[in-house]
Amino acid sequence: MMPETEAIDSNPTAIRLSQPRQSCKILPAYMTNSLRREREIVEGRSMATERRLERIFAYVAAQHRREAAKDEWDPVYTADYRWEHTQRVAHYGDLIAREDGFDRELCVAGCLLHDIAYFHSAKVQDWKDHGRIGARISRSVLLDAGFSEKETDIVCHAIAVHVDGKTDTPHPHTSVADVVSDADNVDRFCAYRVILRCADDLGDFQDMTAPLPKRVDQLRGYREKNPLETRTGRKLFAGKLDLQIAFYESLMQDAAMTQPPLLEPRQEQARTVPLE
Ligand SMILES: [Fe+2]
Ligand SMILES: [Fe+2]
Repeated sequence: MMPETEAIDSNPTAIRLSQPRQSCKILPAYMTNSLRREREIVEGRSMATERRLERIFAYVAAQHRREAAKDEWDPVYTADYRWEHTQRVAHYGDLIAREDGFDRELCVAGCLLHDIAYFHSAKVQDWKDHGRIGARISRSVLLDAGFSEKETDIVCHAIAVHVDGKTDTPHPHTSVADVVSDADNVDRFCAYRVILRCADDLGDFQDMTAPLPKRVDQLRGYREKNPLETRTGRKLFAGKLDLQIAFYESLMQDAAMTQPPLLEPRQEQARTVPLE
């Protein structure tokens, strides 16, 4: 498992990029009737389970709405950022689970709840603890939504370990944990994160571009190791890294060209002597 190695709330002086927005009113693809029916047919689940993901989604959306009104959020990594990240992680989780043949519903539930600790306190006291705090919060949410004890244990374990691989409630490792962690890491290297990384130095090109060689080296290291756990996660992760590396390299080229060109001394033009 690749832990969340980069603190993402380390940008206290950055400009506010967005105001709280309305929640998405369109149900994501992973909640469609076809998925619910597919699961009922394949696994013989009762109709009582059909709205479980909608309940989780509604819970996280409500927590986001309530917390977004508070002004204790980081100016860049706002409540909206966290909610938007959460929805993308759920999509990536669904994609990985579908492609690699894991339980889509449990993976998406884990993805939707993986950062729920931030919606209980934007200033999570110990950043590394937000997985374990989130798991404790999620237990009753999952049970109330209709998940069984066993399913709840699996999802809570995935949430607990997604930051640093540690849990205070031991549980055998699962594919759901791999999917939640991979989906999270894929989105943590998304295109939008490039914008957020540069936002602090907008208007100061030199300051923005000076750290890029080190960053590109770091990204190349991740690309080489590609420590994600699932086949599709690794593929998605490599794509995100390639995009970031290409963008930063282009920016570095721009920086190298942001100076007067070195002009060669003018050469005496060879005089051509007409033959006749
Ligand atoms: Fe997280
Ligand atoms: Fe996350």
